[in-house]
Amino acid sequence: MSFKPLEWRDNKLIILDQTLLPDKEVYLETADYREVARAIKNLTVRGAPAIGVAAAYGFALGALEIQSGNQVEFTLKLEKVSRVLSASRPTARNLFWALERMESVVRSIGSTTQIKKLLLDEALQIHREQLKSDVSLSHYGSAFIADGNTILTHCNTGALATAGYGTALGVIRQAHQEGRQINIIATETRPLLQGARLTAWELKQYGIPFTLITDSMAAYFMRKGKIDLVITGADCIAANGDTANKIGTYALAVLAKEHNIPFYIAAPTSTIDLSLSSGNEIIIEERSPEEVTHIRGVRIAPEHTPVFNPSFDVTPHQYITAIITEKGVIRKPFGEGMQKFSGLK
Ligand code: MRU
Repeated sequence: MSFKPLEWRDNKLIILDQTLLPDKEVYLETADYREVARAIKNLTVRGAPAIGVAAAYGFALGALEIQSGNQVEFTLKLEKVSRVLSASRPTARNLFWALERMESVVRSIGSTTQIKKLLLDEALQIHREQLKSDVSLSHYGSAFIADGNTILTHCNTGALATAGYGTALGVIRQAHQEGRQINIIATETRPLLQGARLTAWELKQYGIPFTLITDSMAAYFMRKGKIDLVITGADCIAANGDTANKIGTYALAVLAKEHNIPFYIAAPTSTIDLSLSSGNEIIIEERSPEEVTHIRGVRIAPEHTPVFNPSFDVTPHQYITAIITEKGVIRKPFGEGMQKFSGLK
């Protein structure tokens, strides 16, 4: 893999700008946490786990720029840093999970200089753990993929989306690595085309055979018997297994059930939010109308067209066959496994 979605170098965060892919591989270099928050908001870095890692580094950058050695002032300034970062994308559970981890480090005993060092160590640790967790869940998930399978996936859940190995795409990479002959059907993923731009770009680099389709073609392929399983990532999973993921995921899950095709979610346990009893409580991000009226800057709808643009939808747990995590596979009834796995270290 030649690209690095996120990298910490010389007290700066280097971010691969995903908005410019696949045409240009441009890296943004920043030491400013506000810029990290903007990069998360405008999808320069995206995918729930990668957002969490970026936010952790952003928090560390916010700490490094504080001059005051006074503990109270230091803590108050970091509360602001956390507020700015957490206002970037409301659905990605990993964002809040990472910020909570960083905030707990601020409560450590020590001088502000020592705490700054601990914060940077924690951000680096979160990044390392993400890669480990991706690799582990990919091994669990590859067991569901048989030789000759055709797998449908939605949005982008690869290294770009996690700053590691990938979740749903990690499972696919692992099965390929293990020598299975597989074929991927990647949905383009309107409005922002993460499937067409990013998943296709990654799959090409890994040498995994794939076919790109528009979102509305999924039913056609399922009815023809051409899909063996569906696997996607997640942005937030409630305690009962209801899962928020990229808009269009729910439609795919309903279609999969209708055609007796297993539907898997692959996500780290840091995506689970046990404080939410069901998917009804997940906050769904709404994004700018231009994402729908325009494609890469070109207007495709009449001016002033009314638009609604929810970035995610919730798939009720009844449609999910299993949830693949780094600690193992959560099977139905999900509630039980969710409690157990979230508590495990
Ligand atoms: O809006 P995005 O591109 O950040 O949405 C990403 C997704 O919906 C992914 O499927 C999800 O974050 C899981 S990434 C491993």
